Amino acid sequence: MLLNPLNSILLATVLFTVLLLRKRSRLPLPPGPPKLPLLGNLFNHPSVSVWKIYMEWSKLYDSDIIHVDIAGRSIIILSSMEAAVNLLDKRSAIYSDRARLLMVNELMGWEFIFSIMKYGDRWRTRRRLFHTVFHAEASKKFLPRQLSTTHQLLRRLLHEPAGIMAHLRHMTGSIIMGAAYGIDVAAKDDPYVRLAEDGLASVTEALVPGKFLVDSLPLLKYIPYWFPGSGFQRLARESKILSQNMLEKPFAEAKRRITSGHAPYSFTAATLQNLDEFPGKEQAIKDTAAMMYAAGTDTIVSALSTFILAMLYNPEAQRKAQAEIDSVVRKGHLPDFDDEPYLPFVSALVKEVLRWQPALPLGVAHFIAVEDEYKGYRIPRGSTVIINTWAVLHDEHFYPDPHAFKPERFLLDGKLNPAIQGPEAATFGFGRRICPGRHMAAASIWITIASLLATFDITKAVGKDGELVEPSYEYFERIIVMPQPFECSIKPRSKDAEALIQSTADQDGSV
Ligand code: HEM
Repeated sequence: MLLNPLNSILLATVLFTVLLLRKRSRLPLPPGPPKLPLLGNLFNHPSVSVWKIYMEWSKLYDSDIIHVDIAGRSIIILSSMEAAVNLLDKRSAIYSDRARLLMVNELMGWEFIFSIMKYGDRWRTRRRLFHTVFHAEASKKFLPRQLSTTHQLLRRLLHEPAGIMAHLRHMTGSIIMGAAYGIDVAAKDDPYVRLAEDGLASVTEALVPGKFLVDSLPLLKYIPYWFPGSGFQRLARESKILSQNMLEKPFAEAKRRITSGHAPYSFTAATLQNLDEFPGKEQAIKDTAAMMYAAGTDTIVSALSTFILAMLYNPEAQRKAQAEIDSVVRKGHLPDFDDEPYLPFVSALVKEVLRWQPALPLGVAHFIAVEDEYKGYRIPRGSTVIINTWAVLHDEHFYPDPHAFKPERFLLDGKLNPAIQGPEAATFGFGRRICPGRHMAAASIWITIASLLATFDITKAVGKDGELVEPSYEYFERIIVMPQPFECSIKPRSKDAEALIQSTADQDGSV
C-alpha cells in the first residue's frame, strides 16, 4: 500500500515519538541512595535535617540532581542554582504545577490557597489579582504602613523587651492583615489573627508529606465518618470549619468598611471593583486575601528571628551596621526606605540573614505531570521537584565558609558587589511560581532590621550565674523553619534612641 504524503508524515511522527519515548525510558534515573523494591527509600529517607542530608547525598553522588523514591512517589531534588534555573525557570511551562494534596485541599477545604493549587486557570486568576497589587512598583503603596508598623514594634520592644518573638509576629500579622484587608490588628488577642492562626495550626500538620494515607490512596476519601479508621475525616471536617471562618470573616469585615467609605488602601479595597470583569471575581479576591496571612507571616517572622540570632552569633557585624547607620542617617531620625542605597553594609547584612538560614530551606515543591530529560537523566512524569535552597545558599564555591555569618561576602570596596549573587535569587523560589510577595517581604525585612539596629543593642542574655547564655542556634524543622526558643537581651542603645522611639508614638498613635 502506498502512503500519501500526509500519512507518511503522521507515520514518521508516530515512529519518532515512539523511539523518543523508548530512548527516554531507557535513560537512567538521576543517582540517589539505594532503594528497596516497591518501598524505595521509605526506610533510608531522613526525617530531620532533610536539606542537609540531601546536600550530602548530592556531594556523595557528585550530582546536582538526585532521585529519591518514597513508596512509589518519585522525588527529584535539585541542589544547584544552575539546575533550578534550567528546569524551573527555563522549562517553566512544564515545571509550574503542584502535586495534588487531597487531604488538605479537597477534604480540609484549603483549596483557596493558591500557593498549593494545581497549575491552571484558577491559579492564574488568583496569581494575576495578587500581582496587580504586589508587583515591585505597586507594593510601594504599602511602604508608609510598613514603616509605621515597624515603629510600633520599636515602642512595644521598649516597653516589653522580653517578648521579641511575639512582637515580631504581631508586627508581621499587622502588616499582612493591613495589606490584605485594611484591618488594624488589636494590640493583643486580635480576633482575625486568632482565626488565621487557628486555621493554620490545623493545616500545618497535614502538609507533612505522607502524614495521611488518603493522599496515597485517594479512594479512602469515600470512607464514611462512622467507619473505623476514618479519624482523618473528622479532622478534615473540623479543619474545614476553621478554613471557612478564615476565608469569610475578615473579608466580610473588609467589605463592610469599604461600603461604609472608611477603608484604607488594601488588596481587597484595590481589587473589589468591576466585579463583572470576569465570572467569579469576588470569590477569587476573597480566596487570595485569605491566603496572605498563611504565605506572608511565618516567612517574614522566620527571617527576622534569624536576624536576632545572627546578632548574637556575630556581634561585630551588629557594631559595623550600627556605625554605618549612625554615619548616614541624620541625628534625631530613624532609618527610612530612602536610606537603603546609602547603607550597603546593612543591606549586605540583610542578604546574609536570608542566605545563612533560608526561611524555606526546601522551597515549595513543584510537580511535573509529563516525563522530561535533563543531563542524560530521566525525570519521570508525576515527580515532585524540590529545590534544595539550603544547598544552593551554602555552596562553598559561591559562598566560601558558608556556615559563618559574614555580611562582608556581599561587599567590594564598601559597596554591594554585583558579582556575588544575592540569596533573593533562590530564597523566593523559581519560574512562574516565584514568590509574588517578595517585594513587600524584602522591604519589610530591610526596614525592620535597619530600625532595630539603629535603636537597640541585641546581645546574649546573662544567666543567673552571671555567665552569657549561649543559644543553641537550633531550628524547628517545618516547611517554614523557626528558631527554637532562645534568650537574648534587647536594650535601647542610648537615652537619645529611647526618646526617638517614643517620639514615633506622636506620628503613628499610641503603643
Ligand atoms: C521572607 C519572606 C518570604 C519568603 C522567603 C518566601 C518564599 C516563598 C517561596 C520559596 C515560594 C515558593 C516559590 C516556588 O514555588 O518556587 C513562595 C510562594 C508564595 N509566596 Fe512567598 N515568601 C516570603 C514572603 C511572602 C509574603 C510576605 C507574601 C504575601 C504577602 C508571600 C506570598 C506568596 C505566595 C502567594 C506564594 C505562592 C505563589 C504561587 O504558588 O504561585 N510570600 N514564597
